[in-house]
Amino acid sequence: MSKLKAQIEKAIQGQRALIYVLCSEETRILPILEQLSSGRSCNFETWSCFNGLSKTGKPDETKDPSAAVKAIIDGGKKGIYAFQDLAEYIEQSEVKRALREFNYSKTGGIDQFLFIISPELILPESLREDVHLITVLPPDDDEIAAEFSRIRAAYPNSKIPEEFNTEIMLALKGLSISGIDSILHRIFKNDRTEREVIFNEIFDEKESIVKKTGYLEFIPPRELLGNVGGLGNLKDWLIKREKVFTKEAVDAGISPPKGLLVMGVSGCGKSLAVKTVSSLWKLPLFRLDMNLIFSGLYGNPEATFHKALQTLNAVAPVILWIDEIENALGLEEAGGLSISSHIFSSFLTWMQEKPPLIFIAATANKIQALPAEIIRKGRFDQVFFVDLPDEQERREIFTIYLKKYSDNIAQFDLKMLSIMTNGWNGAEIAQIVAAARTDAHYEKRLFTQGDITANINITVPLSTTMEQQIKAIRNWALSRATPASSNARILRF
Ligand SMILES: Nc1ncnc2c1ncn2[C@@H]1O[C@H](COP(=O)(O)OP(=O)(O)OP(=O)(O)O)[C@@H](O)[C@H]1O
Ligand SMILES: [Mg+2]
Repeated sequence: MSKLKAQIEKAIQGQRALIYVLCSEETRILPILEQLSSGRSCNFETWSCFNGLSKTGKPDETKDPSAAVKAIIDGGKKGIYAFQDLAEYIEQSEVKRALREFNYSKTGGIDQFLFIISPELILPESLREDVHLITVLPPDDDEIAAEFSRIRAAYPNSKIPEEFNTEIMLALKGLSISGIDSILHRIFKNDRTEREVIFNEIFDEKESIVKKTGYLEFIPPRELLGNVGGLGNLKDWLIKREKVFTKEAVDAGISPPKGLLVMGVSGCGKSLAVKTVSSLWKLPLFRLDMNLIFSGLYGNPEATFHKALQTLNAVAPVILWIDEIENALGLEEAGGLSISSHIFSSFLTWMQEKPPLIFIAATANKIQALPAEIIRKGRFDQVFFVDLPDEQERREIFTIYLKKYSDNIAQFDLKMLSIMTNGWNGAEIAQIVAAARTDAHYEKRLFTQGDITANINITVPLSTTMEQQIKAIRNWALSRATPASSNARILRF
């Protein structure tokens, strides 16, 4: 039995005549109510403001909600009555009275149950005590599996590999049944067998749900791990956990990692590394825009923050990216803004009890602003420190960008380029390769080593102007975090 059916059954057994079901999908609730009434051999009726009661009285006479409730009381017929639009009328005094009368008429034992199905909770104070409330969560694994089998059976000749079944079901978590239906029909109708195409279809739907919030941004899975130069330890960590969010791993009792904190020097690939997790783990990635939350545009920042976490919970499994966590959680002004410190403490509590299928990827620059509580073991599974790339890593980064813009990478002296860029970060390397290519393109010729060295000579890297800050970051981080680079050693320049 699905969790939802069990929830409704329990409410009926609890002998409350008025049951409020908070749910936006009537089509999920009505069949369950119908099944439960046939199991109890009693009447099942629906009511809507458009059709009135489906069986009792004449439709035109029962369109009025209080008249409909009265007709049920007078009819005295044992049954389950599902009211679809009642919440819209519930604040009218006649409707409130009708519902209270319905409730009081049951003192001799309850054999009539009135269900109010609504996506919004509109419950007048005078009815609060009388109503049993059911909050419907998104479809659980059993409901998703049942829907999946039903739709898959409708496409017996589908070429979509069976081995995708469990992963597709896991990815569908968080969507409504109607959302799941439309995606699955699209997937099976198209009958495309590529993994990417199938999963992108599901991610698109999740994106559209989350987009409605305004402060959660979907980051498309475009960056591949191969686009990151260096950061070997970080990459290994991610590769080893590639399968932990699959259903098999969850079923095998492997607890998924909670999160990752990547901190360090600016422009060295922290954000880039986070973006690759999505394509590597095949999970949607959402960035939480804390500036928008703090702006108050969406109401009280604390409440909005909670709402964001709830929305993500509903579409899990997902990766939540909090960029510049020190600013995002207001840590810079420690002891300053009370709202942000509230958000910070509720974030820490939430991290502790966080739903297992949300993975947090946090990035930080001003790492000295990070309090011990956030770095403490157990909060994040791993804290990585990203330093300036060493010679070999700079060579890898050059290779990535040169391959992007040139068919003839052999013409470049990579060793020389990486020696010339001692103390440069990845962003600076990416930028000069792009600038060199633009210069050559302007002169309508292929770009060469000379274009790159010319650009190197006119660029002052960040590490020159911020030498002291970078040294301070390094000293602070090396005792607190694992180096992201597998060539870990202290760089001197
Ligand atoms: N290790 C790297 N490999 C490949 N490209 C890199 C690397 N580091 C930086 N880049 C390039 O520089 C750009 C900026 O890097 P990114 O935004 O990831 O840096 P960051 O560490 O998050 O910096 P900040 O602290 O300023 O946010 C990337 O989009 C990428 O083009
Ligand atoms: Mg960044």
